[in-house]
Amino acid sequence: MNILEILKSKEIVSGSAIGEVLGISRAAVHKQINTLKQIGYKIKSSSKGYVLISNKNLFNEYEIESKLKKPLKICKTVKYYKQLPSTQTAVKKLAEKNFEEGFIIVAEKQTNSYGRIKRMWSSNAGGLWFSILLKPSIRPDEASKLALILSIALKRTLKEYKVDSEIKWSNDVFVNGRKIAGILVEMSAEQDRINWIVAGIGININNKLPEKFADISISLKKVLGREVDRAEFLAELLAKIEDIYNDFCNTGFEMFVEEYNWNIAYKNEIVSIDDGYNNIVSGVNLGIDKDGKLIVNTKVGLKKIISGTLRKYET
Ligand code: BTN
Repeated sequence: MNILEILKSKEIVSGSAIGEVLGISRAAVHKQINTLKQIGYKIKSSSKGYVLISNKNLFNEYEIESKLKKPLKICKTVKYYKQLPSTQTAVKKLAEKNFEEGFIIVAEKQTNSYGRIKRMWSSNAGGLWFSILLKPSIRPDEASKLALILSIALKRTLKEYKVDSEIKWSNDVFVNGRKIAGILVEMSAEQDRINWIVAGIGININNKLPEKFADISISLKKVLGREVDRAEFLAELLAKIEDIYNDFCNTGFEMFVEEYNWNIAYKNEIVSIDDGYNNIVSGVNLGIDKDGKLIVNTKVGLKKIISGTLRKYET
């Protein structure tokens, strides 16, 4: 239990009662109360104790931790920053210092965030921008499959909000034909083992989208017509990632293929895939195979594609 959970569970609670539960002095309680006030909580102090006045949609590590329903191995530590260049770069630095699996960094705003193939990623305040440090015991060539199944976790989470989404291969999540989330998986590996994986996830939640992306992106706020509690969303998503990650590490990828293909965008439609080196393959999107490769029916027969950017073919 943390101090916030205690304050939330009682109408009024004295400093000594909080101190007893947490095993700390009244002075230490006072210090923590001040920290909470500094990050935006309204707390009234009187001779009887402390009262939490309101905490409408605050987003910080206390809120995230207090909304996790059970301990998660993918979220042992969560750190929240008001601003960072990139959560991805920050977690990669920790990975290099041999931090353990389950370290998560969340930022309100990123000033130098990036997506796949180092594309610029827009990260205004109000979105959900975070990176997770993972150390799965899988072969390096399995890592790209992990990226695919993270999009399933996102899809399942959006379903909890009654939002239907599709997965645009390889790991973009779309709602109403527009991108709501993107996933970036980077790793360091030896020939036959992974040192670390950093999975970066960006989700448009309450953030205002830049004008130039208005036609291709969408936020959850826009879809639902209301603000969404990001700590709640993140806690839900992390629980889904934990389940998927455990299943994947214990059982493998095959169990996810059907669910992935069931939710894949532009299925049986003509698509083109650009491998980033000016090689473009066009054909009918037949979904992924058991290795996560995209099967495309081209004019010269079936092709299996490992990576690239997929676009719906426009005539
Ligand atoms: C993509 O669609 O290309 C992937 C986008 C990934 C963006 C996230 S936001 C959190 C993390 N920090 C970054 O700099 N990038 C990822």
